[in-house]
Amino acid sequence: MDRFIVQGEVQLCGSIAVSGAKNATLPVMAASLLCSGITVLHNVPNLRDIRIMQEILTLLGAKIVRQQHTMIIDTTGVNKAEIPENLMREMRASVFLMGPLLGRFRKVKLSYPGGCAIGPRPINLHIKALEKIGATVIESYGYIDAVSTKLTGGKIQFDFPSVGATENAMMAAVLASGVTVIHNAAREPEIIDLQAFLNKMGAKVYGAGTDTIRIEGVNKLNAAEHTIMPDRIEAGTFLLAGAITSGDVVVEGILPEYLFSVIDKLQEIGLQIDIGYNYIRVRAGEMRGVDVNTLPYPGFPTDLQAPLLSLLTIAKGSSIITETIFENRFKHVDELTRMGARIKVEGRTAIVRGVNGLTGAIVSAPDLRAGGALVLAALAAKGTSEIEHVSHIDRGYEQLEVKLRSLGANIYRLKQVT
Ligand code: UD1
Repeated sequence: MDRFIVQGEVQLCGSIAVSGAKNATLPVMAASLLCSGITVLHNVPNLRDIRIMQEILTLLGAKIVRQQHTMIIDTTGVNKAEIPENLMREMRASVFLMGPLLGRFRKVKLSYPGGCAIGPRPINLHIKALEKIGATVIESYGYIDAVSTKLTGGKIQFDFPSVGATENAMMAAVLASGVTVIHNAAREPEIIDLQAFLNKMGAKVYGAGTDTIRIEGVNKLNAAEHTIMPDRIEAGTFLLAGAITSGDVVVEGILPEYLFSVIDKLQEIGLQIDIGYNYIRVRAGEMRGVDVNTLPYPGFPTDLQAPLLSLLTIAKGSSIITETIFENRFKHVDELTRMGARIKVEGRTAIVRGVNGLTGAIVSAPDLRAGGALVLAALAAKGTSEIEHVSHIDRGYEQLEVKLRSLGANIYRLKQVT
């Protein structure tokens, strides 16, 4: 396992461009299975989760070539609709291969994704959606078998606006006969990106970004070329990195409107924010504690809860952070406490009492975003920190240490010698 060594207390300054969004790339790669042909994707981030998805598509019969941030996926030879258990375990997001495989082959078999570091993460909403459009889903011995002789449009009403279930339902419904309407759909920007890609393939999907999505089924889809949207979570992380080091950072190549909830919180904390058409600049200010609830988009994103919490550990006064999306998403708290933070967790709420400063320590990244949070804390802390289990961070941040160094950070990767 690689480690990061961070020498803290360096103010980050300069401009940084974000990569393509992991959470947009994964469903778009899955959607490429809906046709037989050559899909070309640009702005694909180089991340561990993307490599796992690439491995799964290859096992199903696709041929994939990567040229830096362009990915060419030839799905002509795809002939399997079964995902091996070891890869399902590696990445829970592979669950949304169900929709496209069902759409194209009318059958799919995969092992139950099970829990993960941030909670149990059930897939009942995915299954319910597929059943609503004509799939028969059988769960037994840890496997899920879904079949359908005929997918027909229907009305899907989600109890909760799940991002993955919304995407899965869209991908299954594009090749169903008739009209599907998804009510209480998730509104995350990555769903708009998926809609754009599906429509380039010849699908008829309307309403992504609102809570009602309408899909008019078509008989066939064609391969398409698409540029993945910028990563709003990576963008938010760099803004928080600028803020926690009392720096001056411009995050470029982004769509600022997708970060309004984050901008709003940063301003409430006391940071100076400038917004341009494709950038956001953050500058130091006197920071005070705030209360935050994570919520489905357009609320404050759960994926930035941990990095924000790091910032609030050194803001003046108290903060209350309530995590409403996932059950077990405060694993960074114990590690931050080792660095001198004062945080108390009660159920889904963390109460933070701001301290004057953090101190470097040896800590371990428990999951992707919690890992990002520890890097931010280490950048602000006095002395040296060592962050173990960097593989979690590599799942979702492309060359984080290289990008942070370009802003002046003193962070290095110690490679594990095998
Ligand atoms: C996606 C993102 C993830 C982000 C999350 C919430 C990807 C690859 N991942 O995950 O980074 O943190 O959205 O913004 O895009 N739930 C159920 N039953 C289901 C599905 C979900 O109860 O069938 C629950 C989950 O356990 C969780 C909540 O709904 O508590 C939100 O999950 P969901 O929106 O589905 O997140 P993901 O799509 O897994």
